Order: sequence, then structure tokens, then C-alpha cells
Amino acid sequence: MRVLSGIQPTGRPHWGNYFGAITQYLELQHADQAFYFIANLHALTTVRDQQALAQYTLDAAIDLLAFGLDPDEAVLFVQSDVPEVSQLCWLLLTGTPMGLLERCHAFKDKKAKGLSADAGLFTYPVLQAADILAYDSDTVPVGEDQLQHIEVCRDIAGSFNHKFGEVFVLPRAKVLDGSARVPGTDGEKMSKSYGNTLDVFADPAGQRKQIMRIATDSRPVDQPKDPETDTLYQLYSLVAPAEACQEMADRYRQGGLGYGEVKKALAAAAETFFAEARAQRDDWASRPDDVREILQSGAAWARKKAREVLQRAQAACGLTGY
Ligand code: ADP
Ligand code: TRP
Repeated sequence: MRVLSGIQPTGRPHWGNYFGAITQYLELQHADQAFYFIANLHALTTVRDQQALAQYTLDAAIDLLAFGLDPDEAVLFVQSDVPEVSQLCWLLLTGTPMGLLERCHAFKDKKAKGLSADAGLFTYPVLQAADILAYDSDTVPVGEDQLQHIEVCRDIAGSFNHKFGEVFVLPRAKVLDGSARVPGTDGEKMSKSYGNTLDVFADPAGQRKQIMRIATDSRPVDQPKDPETDTLYQLYSLVAPAEACQEMADRYRQGGLGYGEVKKALAAAAETFFAEARAQRDDWASRPDDVREILQSGAAWARKKAREVLQRAQAACGLTGY
């Protein structure tokens, strides 16, 4: 199995990112080959500040290492350090129908809101396809929101292969069951753009504050409640041990449990759950040159593979051998 995924460096990781995407990267890092990269070229479509992008890029690498990504197991690198991907992107763009990209969410949503989109956002899925195809990846762990992009990648690769021969491996998306949609503090899907996040690396006091703000309903304390449909319980079950969850679920069903008490239990469980990652993060952040070295050697590895695939694609469509 050859695994690949990318993460955009656009801000601090929240629980949705961790439980929806990053846990899967960690599980799959022991595959025959696993490539994980920081998608700074994609982030350029939204982050238009030089210092912020550079800082977020290093931060994203530190976050992944803190969560337990092992650079001896997986190749970790920065997208723009592999220029072959951008070269490959052009080859793919030339065969991509406009209609296919017009149907993609990010572009469609922006247009529907009457906002002007740039060509970078429009062609975003093609760059993502190049990311995936450049390493002959067959498995792409992603959150549900990325499924459309993987389908687009398969379409583009399939039509290239049809025209020029079997050049690309067709990838499959892998979505984590269960925690595919982590709710935010307002009960909607947790997302930076909704301002409803719980940040993994907020200090315990900051985290507690975010938890205390979680919206709850006004049903009386005495009333029995269904834990499965409750935001607080859903979040609790992500960070608390199984027995504690069972106990909490029973107390929900019995009634008599106040939301304030659940919030306190949630804050305590979260603090314990993320303590190790937080300590690891402090450690990696204190030695950024070690992180840069990991990224550079990751990029060297990644380029080796990407060059091979690019040459194969260039030869197939007549760019070499003239
Ligand atoms: P945001 O919505 O905060 O901008 P991103 O789009 O940067 O987050 O998310 C990066 C990845 O994290 C996504 O591909 C998705 O898999 C995962 N993710 C984000 N929010 C959630 C969520 N609420 N539940 C599950 N997974 C999520
Ligand atoms: N678009 C992805 C996201 O926003 C990030 C990404 C870029 C990616 N290239 C990729 C994910 C290739 C998987 C494979 O989350």
C-alpha cells in the first residue's frame, strides 16, 4: 500500500482536523510507503501573507511530529519543495474539462456567494490530483469533504491513461469511520470558517474556556437524555476512556446530570488526552532546525519518486524523445 495525504497550513489544528484526518495518517504511517506533506501551494489560495504562510508551514510540520508522525516511518515534506508536482499539474490541466472543475465545491460555493474566485482556486483540484499521482499513491486518507477531489483525481488520471497509455495509478480515498464529522462548539460541523473550533494545542485554561462556551439546550437537569445526539457527549467520547464514556452515557439516560458537570469532565478528559502531544509539541518547537532537516530529507525522497513519475508522463505525451 502506498499512502499519501496533504494538510493545508492555514492555522492551528482543531479537534476536527485531529479526529477527522490526522489520526488516520498516524494509523497508516506504517504502510509500505507513506507520504505526508504540508500543502503550502494550496494554502496560497487563501493565505496571502508571507510571514504567516512560512510560520504556518513550519507549525504544521511541528504539529504532525507532535501527534506522533514518525519521520523514520513516513516521508514528511513541504509541497513546494517538490517542483515536479507543479510540472505534472500542467500536463494534467491540459486534459481537464472546465465542466469538471466548475462542479467542485470550493469553487462552486464561492461563486454561489457572488465572490470572485481566482484561477488558483478553480484549478485547486488539479494540483491535488498531481500531488496524488506524482507518487503512484494508491490510498489517500482524507476527511469526507475531500472525497470529491479524489474522484476528480481518478477522472483526470483515467482520461490521461486512456489517451496516453497506463501512466498513472488510480488512487482510492480512505475515510475514517465514526469520527467523520466532529461537531463544533455550536453543534455544527467544527470548522475554522465557522469560528466554532476547539484547538488541540490551546493551553489547558484556554481549552477549558472554549469548552465552557459549548452551546447546550435548556432541557431540565432531571430529564433523561440521549447521549448519542448530544454534542458534549459526542466530544467526550472522543477523548475519554471507554469505561468513563459508558458511565457518562448511563448517567445521561438516567437524568439528573447537569451540562456544567459534563463540561468539567470533558475539559479534564481533553487535558489528559492531549497532554502528551502538547509536551511533544513544546519539544519539537524548541528545535526548529531539526524539523527543517526532517522536511528537507523528506523532500529529497519525495522528489526522487516524483521525478520518475513525471518523466513517465512527459514521455507518454510526447514532451521528450523529439
Ligand atoms: P476547516 O474546515 O477548519 O477549514 P480544513 O478544511 O483545513 O478544516 O480541514 C482539514 C481536514 O480536517 C479535512 O480534510 C477534514 O478531513 C478534516 N476535518 C476538518 N473539520 C472536520 C470535522 N469537523 N470533522 C471531521 N473532520 C474534519
Ligand atoms: N485539499 C486538502 C485539504 O484541504 C489538502 C490536500 C492537498 C490533499 N493535496 C492533497 C489531501 C492530496 C490529500 C491528497 O484538506
